[in-house]
Amino acid sequence: MLSTKASCNSHGQDSSYFLGLQVYEKNPFDETVNPTGIVQMGLAENQLSFDLVESWLRKNPDSMGLKKDGESVFRELALFQDYHGLASFKNELVEYMAQIRGNKVKFDPNNLVLAAGATSANETLIFCLADPGEAILLPTPYYPGFDRDLKWRTGVEIVPVHCLSSNGFRITMSALEDAYQRAQKLNLKVKGVLITNPSNPLGTTMTRDELNHLITFAMARNIHVISDEVFSGTVFDSPGFISIIEAAMDRNLEKKDVWSRIHIIYSLSKDLGLPGFRVGMIYSSNKTVVSAATKMSSFGLVSSQTQYLLSNMLANKKFTSKYMKKNQKRLKKRKEMLVSGLKKSGIGYLKGNAGLFCWVDMRHLLSSNTFEAETELWKKILFEVGLNISPGASCHCTEPGWFRVCFANMSQATLRIAVRRIKDFVDRSSCGGGIGKISYQQNMSSLSRNLHGSMVRKLTSSDRDEQEHADGTQSNIPFGGFTKKVETCKRV
Ligand SMILES: Cc1ncc(COP(=O)(O)O)c(C=O)c1O
Repeated sequence: MLSTKASCNSHGQDSSYFLGLQVYEKNPFDETVNPTGIVQMGLAENQLSFDLVESWLRKNPDSMGLKKDGESVFRELALFQDYHGLASFKNELVEYMAQIRGNKVKFDPNNLVLAAGATSANETLIFCLADPGEAILLPTPYYPGFDRDLKWRTGVEIVPVHCLSSNGFRITMSALEDAYQRAQKLNLKVKGVLITNPSNPLGTTMTRDELNHLITFAMARNIHVISDEVFSGTVFDSPGFISIIEAAMDRNLEKKDVWSRIHIIYSLSKDLGLPGFRVGMIYSSNKTVVSAATKMSSFGLVSSQTQYLLSNMLANKKFTSKYMKKNQKRLKKRKEMLVSGLKKSGIGYLKGNAGLFCWVDMRHLLSSNTFEAETELWKKILFEVGLNISPGASCHCTEPGWFRVCFANMSQATLRIAVRRIKDFVDRSSCGGGIGKISYQQNMSSLSRNLHGSMVRKLTSSDRDEQEHADGTQSNIPFGGFTKKVETCKRV
C-alpha cells in the first residue's frame, strides 16, 4: 500500500548512531533530576557560546521584535515568499563565510542558495548533480547522516573511499582511485566526491596536499567536488582551515572547467550553534546548479523571520568576530578537558584541531578485532557506563574500535562526570573486575553524591566557569583533579 521509499530502510534510522540517540531519550542525564542517566555524547551540537548570542539579542530587541528603527516590519516579513531569500541576509552570509576564511576568499551572493540546514542543502545539491543509480564517493569514516541526506530520497549510491588509521585517516590518491575502480566494477557512474572539511567525525582539517589530490582527481575524472564546510568556524588550533575554494584559487583554476564543479555546503548549525534555526546553503559558481537548486529550495526554505533576525546579527562584524574567537577558545578548552581525561584513562585519540567531537581510539578495549566486539563495547558504554557515544561502524569506519565522542553539547560539570565514568570503567575493566562487578547505578549515585554541591550545576551557570567576567578576567576551574595538558598525542 505504501511507496517503496516509505517502506525501505535506506534512511539509516536503524544504525547505532540513531539507536543511541533513541536510547538516550529514554533516560537522559540531568545533574539534579537524573544523575545516573545517560550523558549525550553522540550529538554534534555547540552549546558553548549561547550566552554571547543571548547577550546580542538582549542588546538588539528590534531584531527579535521584527522591527526596524522602531517600526514594525512584521507585514513585510509575513508576506515574503521569494525563494531567492532576503538579499540582505545573503549579503551578510557571504561576508560571514569570507570572515571565517580570513577574508582570503570573496563570495558572490548570487552564487548562494539557501536551504533548511545543511541536511537539505546536501540533498538538494545531490539532486542537481546525480541521477538515481549514479554514485558519489565519500571518504570514511563519515557523518552517519549522509546515508539519509545523500542517498535516501535521491536514489544516489555512496561509494566509500576507505581511509585508514595508519596515516591518520588522510585521503590519498590511491584510496580515491580504489573507490573509483570499485564503482566502475559495480557499473556505477561516479558523479562526484564529497568531503567534510573540517571532518566529521575526525575533528581535523584537510591538508593542502589532500585538497590538491581531490582537485587533481576531480579534474582527471571529470567529476564534481562537494566540500561540506559546516564546521569551518570551529577550527580552534593550528593548522588553520583551508577551504576547497581557496585551494582551487591558489592553483588559478577560476577559468578552468573544474571551477564550475566545485561546490560548498555551509550552515549556521555548528559554528553559531543554531541547528534549530535551520539555516543552510549551497555555494556554487555553476549557474545551472544555482538556478536548479534555487527552484528546489522551495521545498526547504528558511523562514523570513529567521533571515531577518540573523541578517541583523551577522551585519554586526564586531559581534561575529568576537563570537568566533571566543567560541574557538572555549571549544579548545573543552577538547583539552576531554583528552586529558582520556589520557588519564590510557585511551588514545586522533589529534584534532576542529569540530565539536574527538575521534577516540578504544581498540585496546575490544574483546576481539571485530565490529561485533565494537558493538559489544558500545552497548556496555551506553547501558552500563551511561554514555552515548557513536561507534565507528555508524560512521562506516573500516577498522573496529574507533568512537566519536562529542564534547560541546553539555556543561563543564557534565563533561567532568562523563570523563570520570570513562576512567572508572577502564579502571574496573583493567582490574579484571569487568564492568558487571560494580553496579553502574551504585557507582553513579555515589559519584553524583560526591560531586553534588561542588560541581553539579545547570549548564547556564556552570558554563560561566569558562566564560569571561565583565572585567575581562577569566575563571579557570581545575578539572576534576586531572592536570590540564595540551594535546600531544600523535595521529595514529
Ligand atoms: C558534516 C555535516 N553536514 C551536515 C550536517 C547537517 O547540518 P544541519 O543541522 O545544518 O542540517 C551535519 C550535522 O551534524 C554534519 O555534521
